[in-house]
Amino acid sequence: MNKITEGSASVSVPRQDLTRKAEAFYNPAMEYQRDITLSALRVYKKDCENRLSVCDPLAGTGVRSIRMAKEVPGISRIIANDLNPRAVTVMKKNVRSSGLGKKITVSNVSANKLFLEHPGAFDFVDIDPFGSHINYVFNAGFALKRKSMIACTATDTGALCGAFPSTCFTRYGIKNSKTDFYKEVGARVLITSTMLELSKHDISVEPLYSHANHYFRFIGRLKKSKSGITSQFRDIRFLVYCPSCIYRSFDISEKCPVCGKRTQVIGPLWSGKIHDRKFCTGMLGDMKAAGYSRTKELETALSEEEVPFYYDIHRMLKVRRSAPRKLSDIMEALENKGFSASRTRFCGTGVKTDAPYEEIAGLV
Ligand SMILES: C[S@@+](CC[C@H](N)C(=O)[O-])C[C@H]1O[C@@H](n2cnc3c(N)ncnc32)[C@H](O)[C@@H]1O
Ligand SMILES: [Zn+2]
Repeated sequence: MNKITEGSASVSVPRQDLTRKAEAFYNPAMEYQRDITLSALRVYKKDCENRLSVCDPLAGTGVRSIRMAKEVPGISRIIANDLNPRAVTVMKKNVRSSGLGKKITVSNVSANKLFLEHPGAFDFVDIDPFGSHINYVFNAGFALKRKSMIACTATDTGALCGAFPSTCFTRYGIKNSKTDFYKEVGARVLITSTMLELSKHDISVEPLYSHANHYFRFIGRLKKSKSGITSQFRDIRFLVYCPSCIYRSFDISEKCPVCGKRTQVIGPLWSGKIHDRKFCTGMLGDMKAAGYSRTKELETALSEEEVPFYYDIHRMLKVRRSAPRKLSDIMEALENKGFSASRTRFCGTGVKTDAPYEEIAGLV
């Protein structure tokens, strides 16, 4: 065992083993993901009168639960659970040595059983599995309060990004394809699939933040509301994409109106906001106050145009066989023509703009 410190938690973790067979899974590369979650929880708590009841159903070593208990004011209790009995032994030791035994209850059942045993119990559920989140979301819907928050991670990046369309379809019921904006598609598949599962409980989802690294993650505010579902439904749409010229549109056409080649259909996909400006501004302030160093991604998200899908300029230059051009020059040219243009958290060479395809293609 190694003793590590992350945030205010000091925990014992098994020697580096990032496989599913690990005695208790701990990935130091996920510290940033846990930082973001703590900030989101602190911002969320500000709008809640009552103390929060939290569920960490796939808790590994318990590092996330211990950090939440220590670093988020206003939590009444946390259930830290894992199916792996060896992880639970490690977790119990970590909780005991942190002195948080009264606040954190350690449990050893499958996540889905845990949800069914705690109907309407939690203000926040954090689904952080190996692979896909999808097998846990529907049952989490039983365990969440009428107004609550959820966070979901998924590491099945090939399915989410469109590299394995048939896996995406069988797992999520969403048609996917390789695009130049695959990281945003991945985030939107994660969000859409969560929405579709929770809508079976009449729970609507308002995305608060989403991001992509070697995993996809999103945090959403939930509300039990039939009318919320109806308005959410309006923003779940189908998209056509042309791999030859990277044209994309919500106006469905079998043939690309630009180059005449056959288009591909992607969807159903959430086309609305993938972060909430006010909430993210609160998170950014919180992250700075907490001394977290990695704030750039959130800053970029806050400066991002709220239009779905970016153009990867590298890809655009390639399909148009054009000479290299700087992203900043293209953005400036778009702005000079009266369009909006911004960078995106998902891709260093990506631009988000409200300009139609022809305008941006005309610039490269
Ligand atoms: C990615 S790790 C969790 C890491 C942890 N959340 C953290 O922040 O360090 C996924 C965990 O889920 C556990 N697990 C896998 N299937 C499970 C299930 N059906 N129910 C509960 N836990 C499960 C694994 O034992 C593993 O510890
Ligand atoms: Zn085309």
